[in-house]
Amino acid sequence: MSKKIWLFDTTLRDGEQVPGAKLNLYEKLEVAHQLKKLQVDIIEAGFPASSEGDFNAVKQIAQKVGNTDDLMITALARAVKGDIDAVYESVKYAESPMIHMVLGTSDIHVEKKFSKSKDQILQIGIDAVKYAKTLMPQIQYSTEDASRSDFEYLWKTIEAVMKAGATMINVPDTVGYAVPEEFGAMIAKLNDRMKNLDDSVLLSVHCHNDLGMATANTLAAIKNGADKVECTINGIGERAGNAALEEVVMALSTRHNYFDAYTRVNKKEIMNTSRIVSSLMGIDVQVNKAITGDNAFAHSSGIHQDGLLKSRDAYEIVSPTEVGLDDMELVLTARSGRHAVKNALENLSIGHLTEEHFEEIFADFLKLADAKKEVYDHDLFILVENYFNKQ
Ligand code: KIV
Ligand code: ZN
Repeated sequence: MSKKIWLFDTTLRDGEQVPGAKLNLYEKLEVAHQLKKLQVDIIEAGFPASSEGDFNAVKQIAQKVGNTDDLMITALARAVKGDIDAVYESVKYAESPMIHMVLGTSDIHVEKKFSKSKDQILQIGIDAVKYAKTLMPQIQYSTEDASRSDFEYLWKTIEAVMKAGATMINVPDTVGYAVPEEFGAMIAKLNDRMKNLDDSVLLSVHCHNDLGMATANTLAAIKNGADKVECTINGIGERAGNAALEEVVMALSTRHNYFDAYTRVNKKEIMNTSRIVSSLMGIDVQVNKAITGDNAFAHSSGIHQDGLLKSRDAYEIVSPTEVGLDDMELVLTARSGRHAVKNALENLSIGHLTEEHFEEIFADFLKLADAKKEVYDHDLFILVENYFNKQ
């Protein structure tokens, strides 16, 4: 039976901490309302201990967007009482709130960042979960830098925090170090052990894109048993970013037979969400970005345009309408063939030409396309008009 994958969106926490991406309260609320429309399962609304402004934004999102029990609102805490209290005090207004806490498990974090022993860090984690559990039932524990951690220590931590009451275990590839096969194998092993201990606890992953593999690692985790994934819109996030929500969702949907898994995301809202986040954050989407880039559904080679006009599936695996766009775009350039130019003229209702006229206009088109990078609709009108004026 097809498996539901929980979608946790961290655009407002991991995404918003990016240089230049700061949002004010009203912009955060707008993004949160749009994420609700997109139908993600969990919104991470911020890091309330970091500032009064962030605390207030998380609180307002919990009150105004989290007023339904099918959308969980969470926020981040370090494994310290002050942070946990700040999350509790801000997310408690949601119908379905959760405390998310993070503590490193790699030797680098334990020894160099915290200057503590592994046993000390383990105890801090257990105590923090036990304390958070006195405040609310839903607790996510993130083992920061999990992919560079000693596996048996990572497991010892997960086992202990599960016993202390964590309801979701998040395994981050914090610095984007993982590769899909290795990460997938690690998730399979953790999934096995976790399901033996308590199969109600969700196994989650959080992948960064430092080596360009965040989406691939996230999908490898799903293939190997992950129940939940953490993503951001447009892949925005610390350094090279996080796994892009739209890529993970559309990979699961397009390759459904391979993954046998689905999300409840409303795909028609993907493009809208991408544009809202990009414009409010003032960060452009890379033009060739999968799914949400300007060129993701634009075809320019003559061979491809001819193939598409004969059968869309020749060069299209995702329909632009699925993600909320009107249609594909056939860009007219010097590489476009007769088929694409004829199609464009017909769409403009100026396509009723004899073969002889069309051939001459097509020759004019090629000259113009060689001189200009792209030929637009208004250029075609002028081409046709000039041609008949010369007759
Ligand atoms: O990258 C990371 O490890 C994080 C954690 C807080 C989940 O963002
Ligand atoms: Zn992160």
